[in-house]
Amino acid sequence: MDRFVIRGGAPLAGVIPVSGSKNAGLPIPVAAAILGTTDSRITNVPELQDIHTMARLLRHLGSPVEVGDGVLDIGAADSLNVEAEYDLVRRMRASIYVLGPLLARFGEARVSFPGGCAIGARPVDIHLRGMEALGASIEVEHGFIIAKATKLRGADMSLMGPQGTSVGATANVMMAAVLAEGVTTIRDAAVEPEVADLAGCLTAMGARIEGAGTRTIAIEGVGELHGADYALPPDRIESASYILAGAITRGDIRVRGAERRHLGAVLGKLTEADIWLDWEGKDVRVTVPNGIRSVDVDTGVYPGFPTDVQAQYMGLMCMAQGKARIVENIFTDRFMHALELQRMGADIQINGNVATVTGVDRLTGAPVMASDLRAGMVLVLAGLAAEGETVVSRVYHIDRGYERIEEKLRAAGADIQRVSD
Ligand code: EPZ
Repeated sequence: MDRFVIRGGAPLAGVIPVSGSKNAGLPIPVAAAILGTTDSRITNVPELQDIHTMARLLRHLGSPVEVGDGVLDIGAADSLNVEAEYDLVRRMRASIYVLGPLLARFGEARVSFPGGCAIGARPVDIHLRGMEALGASIEVEHGFIIAKATKLRGADMSLMGPQGTSVGATANVMMAAVLAEGVTTIRDAAVEPEVADLAGCLTAMGARIEGAGTRTIAIEGVGELHGADYALPPDRIESASYILAGAITRGDIRVRGAERRHLGAVLGKLTEADIWLDWEGKDVRVTVPNGIRSVDVDTGVYPGFPTDVQAQYMGLMCMAQGKARIVENIFTDRFMHALELQRMGADIQINGNVATVTGVDRLTGAPVMASDLRAGMVLVLAGLAAEGETVVSRVYHIDRGYERIEEKLRAAGADIQRVSD
């Protein structure tokens, strides 16, 4: 397994480019491969492990998917295997995205129940509730979700769950409803930008969707969908992560190709923390002329502060002047990174879903372990800011969601090397 060896202390300087969105780049190829009756081409595709895993899953179903340099060429298929087996699904929760489109196009789907992961329980009850509302029968046998429907019928449903709405379930139900008979109304839909981008691709394929990106989405089913060409948007979580890299090292960097309108809550909190953010088009210059202020954050569904930036933000608060209260409202167990940051000298008290971070003057390098994608990223950021050497192990978590991370950081002056065992 690979590790990152980081020698910290140098302020970053230079340009860090943003890649295409992982969380748009997972459902969109699924929609194109399973629902499209003609070929599709997806561009601005990041070179990520999760993208390759999804391509493998689609090929396993029988869809001819070619992963090129930033491009996914997806051939149409008249019929597909409708079973997504455990070995592929266990690697990536987003595999559940094949459920809705397989059900809509072929009337059946057998998807292994996705396992949990390091950030807590990852139920799919809202996904299944949505499919049942569209008329599917759902059974769970031997770890498989078995969904069947002779023809899906449009329905009026809410996707509200105990932790609020669900991004994945909104995407899954949308991909099923586009071929259902009649009109579907999805209430309490997720409004994350990735949902609007999926709707954009489905619309380009001939779907009839109104309201994507708002809490209520109306979908009029059609007979079939053709393929489409679609460019992925920039990754808003990667953008936020590199803005925080500039801030935590008190550097002077430009994050290139970011979508400002997708980053509102993060930009607001960083400005309160006295991080200076100067925009020129899609580029943002990050500087820290004074100290870093401690500012409280509550994560929430979009447009609230993203749970996927919580870990990286905690890293910044470790270096701030004061106490910051961070409340994680989306996932039940998303503070694993705090234990590793404490090994680097951070002062963090955890009480349930509340972390109280008292800033310290310096972090010191240490051997640490990534437990999930975003926890891994904050350990890299802390290593860049810490004195001495930090070794981050299990970087395969990071490779799932950050394209060429060590190259991008080295180009901005970071001392980071990938070491293979
Ligand atoms: C998507 O996951 C993202 N993944 C996650 O990013 C992100 O953290 C999450 O949305 C929230 O924004 C992708 O887009 C591939 P949810 P998803 O369904 O769809 C509960 C990253 O780091 N829930 O919106 O799985 C769930 O347990 C990843 O890039 C149910 O109770 O998230 C959670 O508490 C991590 N029942 C909350 O809702 C369900 O059926 C939000 O989950 C589904 C979800």
